[in-house]
Amino acid sequence: MLPKINPTNTQAWFLLQKHYEEEMNRRHMRDLFAADADRFKKFSLRIGDILFDYSKNIINQKTLQLLLQLAEDCKLKDAIHEMFAGIKINETEQRSVLHTALRNFSDTPILVDGKDIMPHVQRVQAHMKDFCEEVHSGKHKGYTGKKIRFIVNIGIGGSDLGPVMVTESLKPFWKKGIETFFISNIDGTHISEVLKLVRPEETLFLIASKTFTTQETMTNAHTARQWFLEKAIDEKHIAKHFVALSTNEKEVTGFGIDKKNMFEFWDWVGGRYSLWSAIGLSIALTIGYDNFEQLLKGASVADEHFRKEKFDKNIPVLMALLGIWYTNFFGAQSEAILPYDQYLHRFAAYFQQGNMESNGKSIDRSGNPVNYSTGPIIWGEPGTNGQHAFYQLLHQGTPLVPSDFIAPAISHNPIGDHHQKLLSNFFAQTEALMNGKSENEVKIELMKENKSQDEIKKLTPFKIFDGNKPTNSILLKEINPFNLGTLIALYEHKIFVQGVIWNIFSFDQWGVELGKQLANRVLPELADDTEIVSHDSSTNGLINSYKQFRKG
Ligand code: F6P
Repeated sequence: MLPKINPTNTQAWFLLQKHYEEEMNRRHMRDLFAADADRFKKFSLRIGDILFDYSKNIINQKTLQLLLQLAEDCKLKDAIHEMFAGIKINETEQRSVLHTALRNFSDTPILVDGKDIMPHVQRVQAHMKDFCEEVHSGKHKGYTGKKIRFIVNIGIGGSDLGPVMVTESLKPFWKKGIETFFISNIDGTHISEVLKLVRPEETLFLIASKTFTTQETMTNAHTARQWFLEKAIDEKHIAKHFVALSTNEKEVTGFGIDKKNMFEFWDWVGGRYSLWSAIGLSIALTIGYDNFEQLLKGASVADEHFRKEKFDKNIPVLMALLGIWYTNFFGAQSEAILPYDQYLHRFAAYFQQGNMESNGKSIDRSGNPVNYSTGPIIWGEPGTNGQHAFYQLLHQGTPLVPSDFIAPAISHNPIGDHHQKLLSNFFAQTEALMNGKSENEVKIELMKENKSQDEIKKLTPFKIFDGNKPTNSILLKEINPFNLGTLIALYEHKIFVQGVIWNIFSFDQWGVELGKQLANRVLPELADDTEIVSHDSSTNGLINSYKQFRKG
């Protein structure tokens, strides 16, 4: 069982608070860089073809030493061991947390309830591989004898965001002749627009749902089934065009999908950590199974690094500790993820769920309210678009937003000097966020522009940049399945470390239940035009106004 330690009661926390108040809240990174020519060397690490530069953070060696002590005080080492060993650390659901088993390429057995789960993992992976080969070779044909050309994944949350993010990130690796679409929103617009783009006889629907009971997914799945049967007529054709990715065999067969068309996974795979499982079938069908395996292998490198590397050289541990430093000592409430790569345009959205559904908790592992901040708000958009939208606030706004900048050195689309321009922005932004622009620099600049003394006086305050805004820079050689796998797994482990230190349960998500329950209560009330009085006046008013509007 994970330890139940209130981090604020540790000696490290006390010392970090003191260190922050007496030293670091007045430190400027500009001075830290000026004082140490080796700062980059000291505060950057490599894992394979990925460089993690954390030198542009408001830290010195003492900060790091205290943060590492915090990890020790909160028994992080034991927690890591427990996760990888399959101990049921998801206590509120009594489940192991073993997405790492899905990328375990060693011969080490992993036990859940005393039984080795690896043969099951390998069996499903072999099933996925065979199925991909059959679809890609044309052996698996649609009901009219045509090859499958369109893959439509129907799922939501963890059964959607990971595959969307990965397939988008790996667009250059898409198999020829395959087009992949995702339907998640229960808004009929989503499915309607996708169905306009595909033909039933060439479409394979993947119904991706861990529980196979999620309202959005099941509604979309039934609509897709109906749409398919309008053309295919005979229900026997369903077998060639619908497969299920799920843990729930009973519901899958109840829906009419044959057990042999079910790709199984298990309750020890959390929804938001499931892209590595059968939920990744849309990925494997899109980029080919070999590339999917590369993704898993890349992740396994991050797993080994996380398990074995000492904490002062351990990238996810450091990422997590830096986040805690800003959240709990500087009072930062959000973190931005800013990929300088168009293919990574859903990366921030993916980790928005990863972080916020995992660590958006306010009850500690003993069941008591926490007296400190936990998971921050995660957001972000690709650079350079973000620069022309919200970077103003990053540079000169009041909140502190620690940000991760991610970029590949090699572009898949090396047109003219696009990539150099893109990367010049990547480098310049973190430099500007760190250095800022002093009053003196502003004045000199304005003088050079021949501004009058009056104008200089008036304009100067608006043009000063305080700087000292922390960033991590993650530079990858290129975005490929292997490197992407490593990158995703590093972020996953960051979330785990933070959850351990914040003394919360990162692998349940009770917070999404209330809205679902209430929606189920409201749904029958929308069936007719009867006036509703069962809620508060706002909810009644909204429902009744909706009924008025829809009458026309
Ligand atoms: O939003 C809550 C949640 O349970 C997520 O954790 C999960 O990823 C998503 O719903 C989808 O669930 P399922 O895969 O069971 O349809």
